[in-house]
Amino acid sequence: MLESKWIWMNGKQVEWSNAKIHVLTHAFHYATAVFEGIRCFETDEGPAVFRLSEHINRFFDSMKIYMMHGTFSFDEVRNAIKETVSINGLKECYIRPIAYYSYGEMGLNPLPNKVELAISVWEWPSYLGEKAEREGLKCQVSSWRRIHSSALPPQAKATANYANSALAKIEALKGKYDEAILLNMDSMVAEGTGENLFRVKDGILSTPPASSGVLRGITRDTIIKVAKDRGIEFWRNDLSREELYTSDELFLTGTAAGVTPVREVDGRAIGLRPGEWPVSLRLKEAYLDIVHGRDSKYRSWLDFV
Ligand SMILES: Cc1ncc(COP(=O)(O)O)c(C=O)c1O
Repeated sequence: MLESKWIWMNGKQVEWSNAKIHVLTHAFHYATAVFEGIRCFETDEGPAVFRLSEHINRFFDSMKIYMMHGTFSFDEVRNAIKETVSINGLKECYIRPIAYYSYGEMGLNPLPNKVELAISVWEWPSYLGEKAEREGLKCQVSSWRRIHSSALPPQAKATANYANSALAKIEALKGKYDEAILLNMDSMVAEGTGENLFRVKDGILSTPPASSGVLRGITRDTIIKVAKDRGIEFWRNDLSREELYTSDELFLTGTAAGVTPVREVDGRAIGLRPGEWPVSLRLKEAYLDIVHGRDSKYRSWLDFV
């Protein structure tokens, strides 16, 4: 990874190489941590964090689910994020706030342990790989199912959930795919390992509902709003595995992954013609214009550093 200089830890800027936690930290053993993935983009008016308030709200919702209380306020987290981007002198970066049950008591009850917070930022231009992002993703429907809310709350962006994603990702990469698509326990499509999924068929855009077990992605929400603003018909509905294969277009969305077309699922080419994904690319361009401050209509989504 591309290292930066400073990491914010519990109110202080600490040098990157000194930002350490104890090996007996509760979260390290029991995955009792929640996090966010946010991006800061370069604009003509300087670096701007995209939809920062929505990300902090989701972070606080995740903390609430895991009963993490008494840490920092919304404004303190917001200021700390902007300060950390600024002090590292980055124009564009990925931002990773994490809240975790710290060192103190072992055993499964996390509540006796203090909740600590850290914010790291680093340059991460391409998450899925430049080639795959340019040429479209080769995806596999995973043999792993997306976690069900009866076992782990999918709406909390908790580190625990990502063991599920990591297993699916390993399987996909070992099989020479770029990314996995997970079905839920009802065999309906959920999402990628760290991305939401959209389908285009006969000019209609659709995505699985939150009840399918997906994370309510902020990029997903952005694409839904932008598509509606552009008059694209949109449905939120369950998708079956075969509807993936018969899509005119498929694309994945996420803060890390951006808006990335899928070119193949389980060996079936996606698209009316190879490499032609008009709706996906139109929405991708719209997204890039918005995050880089080139579309004044959505300026309120930018939080300037
Ligand atoms: C499992 C999962 N789904 C979807 C997303 C996309 O969410 P967002 O667009 O808010 O980054 C992410 C990334 O955070 C994720 O980890």
